[in-house]
Amino acid sequence: MSNYHIKHLEEYYKVYRKSVREPENFWEEIAEEHFVWRKRWNKVLSWDFKTPEVKWYEGAQLNITENCIDRHLFTKGNKTAILFEPNDPSEEAEHISYRQLYERVNQFANVLKAKGIGKGDRVCIYLPMIPELAISVLACARIGAIHSVVFAGFSATALSTRINDSDCKMVITSDGSFRGAKTIDLKGIVDEALEDCASVESVLVAKRIQSDVSMKEGRDQWLQPLLDDASKECAPEIMDSEDPLFILYTSGSTGMPKGMVHTTGGYMVYTAYTFKNVFNYKQDDIYWCTADIGWITGHSYIVYGPLANGATTVMFEGVPSHPDYGRFWEVVEKHKVTQFYTAPTAIRALAKEKLEYVDRYDLSSLKVLGSVGEPINEEAWHWYNDNVGKKQSPIVDTWWQTETGGIMLSPIPYVTPTIPTYATLPLPGIQPALMDENGNEIDGKQVDGRLCIKFPWPSMARTIWGNHQRYKETYFSAFEDMYFTGDGALRDTVGYYRITGRVDDVIIVSGHNLGTAPIEDVINEHPAVAESAIVGFPHDVKGNALYGYVTLKETGEGRMHDNLRKEINQIITEHIGPIAKLDKIQFTSGLPKTRSGKIMRRILRKIASNDTSNLGDTSTLLNPEVVQEIMENVK
Ligand code: WT7
Repeated sequence: MSNYHIKHLEEYYKVYRKSVREPENFWEEIAEEHFVWRKRWNKVLSWDFKTPEVKWYEGAQLNITENCIDRHLFTKGNKTAILFEPNDPSEEAEHISYRQLYERVNQFANVLKAKGIGKGDRVCIYLPMIPELAISVLACARIGAIHSVVFAGFSATALSTRINDSDCKMVITSDGSFRGAKTIDLKGIVDEALEDCASVESVLVAKRIQSDVSMKEGRDQWLQPLLDDASKECAPEIMDSEDPLFILYTSGSTGMPKGMVHTTGGYMVYTAYTFKNVFNYKQDDIYWCTADIGWITGHSYIVYGPLANGATTVMFEGVPSHPDYGRFWEVVEKHKVTQFYTAPTAIRALAKEKLEYVDRYDLSSLKVLGSVGEPINEEAWHWYNDNVGKKQSPIVDTWWQTETGGIMLSPIPYVTPTIPTYATLPLPGIQPALMDENGNEIDGKQVDGRLCIKFPWPSMARTIWGNHQRYKETYFSAFEDMYFTGDGALRDTVGYYRITGRVDDVIIVSGHNLGTAPIEDVINEHPAVAESAIVGFPHDVKGNALYGYVTLKETGEGRMHDNLRKEINQIITEHIGPIAKLDKIQFTSGLPKTRSGKIMRRILRKIASNDTSNLGDTSTLLNPEVVQEIMENVK
């Protein structure tokens, strides 16, 4: 028997050592005992970080939806698989049983097939957090189509870029979405995006807000009537373990968003195993992750990981502040939620409000609290621990990435003693390394460096869609034979890891990964702008906010500057989305540069963070006088 569910610290160390000494055996036992395969693998793992190429369970065949749905029907047919909690608390929650999920996924899969979608085709899903989102994801997996979910807060340009990058044949969307007191016209955004998307043949539209939308003849169809006519049986497409399951875009420090490709067998095994252990999952639990399925957290820990375990997973359509700041806790009480997984930015926003919003509700069902997306600061950690967990629920600070597919560093609740701000220990199978700038591994305790992973794990992304070279350059070129995460970390005296933040030009704003270069590119398109540089600065709710230094082609001032600030944020909203808006914009006559023309972001970061005590030697700059000017006119 594999030690599938780790119950005490000694066992963790034992299991961890085994996973490092005999990784193939370790992952083979787990795959064998806890999943259904149509055909067994020939080889557990083959890998080479130089090419790079990684294959898990090569030769095996399966369908992930058989593991997430079919196999639970006999024992859990009536158990709630998806518990949908709507935006409006007066609308009734919907309990979708495993049996109903089976039928609805199959109907949806049959609709996809009838529309000409088959194995390997890409389908873009642009939906709010309604059941159709999870169901369409699973329907794609059922027939072997590759889903590419785009977060429904992205703009039309961001959507069309992603559709075109992977040549999606179909878009699944809704008439609109509810978000707190607002509604958003999703179909309108899709229509705008599709003006530039030649690959898209059809659009399926779910009804959610009952708005009047225009339907393009021959392209658009309402979803429900098609579903009503479809059969509730659809044989699963048999997939190879290494067939792509989905593409999910993440922003890099430069260029186009990267379409990370995740494959089937290893992803399933790893997300299910980590879900079980990181959330101490038991049969009767009601698990709630507040993320959107548009992000990797939702893919792995709302849909695939929980369902592979036969769990009840809550899908929440709303926002934490509507109708008031007690909404999360009201839902916890109402559904007796046992595991609650959210982002530090949400915790900080709620911690600013009256405690009454928390204290009004009975939170005694909770047994594990999770955090993900960015480092959780000590104050937020304590607020979460004291007021939500009442010091009774361990906090799992889970570090991972879109690229890693699943949680990499995390305490195991009731097993690993926690320390605020520490993601603590690697999960079994994960071999972290800290590297210095010369490419040497830093051994020992109480050290810091660049965080790498030196051995493959089953859920790692296999490539960037259409650009394997970029995959190699981004993740496998900084350090030889290592996967480079882009994060810095320190390791303390007991071997615990603490993430110190990005070491590249990616800034995490409210848990969203934003590259600076793509935003600068957008700003530079404004006719009045000559050049720009974006840096992050600390923000008490968002973690980081964006500060833009902008030089204009012609100087102007006062009102003209205020208008320009608005226009700059408007084009950012149009091209990327409101999450990338700048909190502060400072107009300057130039940007500090090295003699070779490289913008000195380090200096700009310090000025934006109000930390100008030690700017270092600026005399070697091409234009040292600009630094003085910027400091005098700080926003
Ligand atoms: C980056 C990945 C994985 C789902 C959400 C984000 C940062 C993530 C933590 C954490 C410190 C964290 C890292 C990472 N990050 N979780 N617990 N502590 N930093 O996925 O958008 O791909 O972003 O988020 O910087 O590299 P993502």
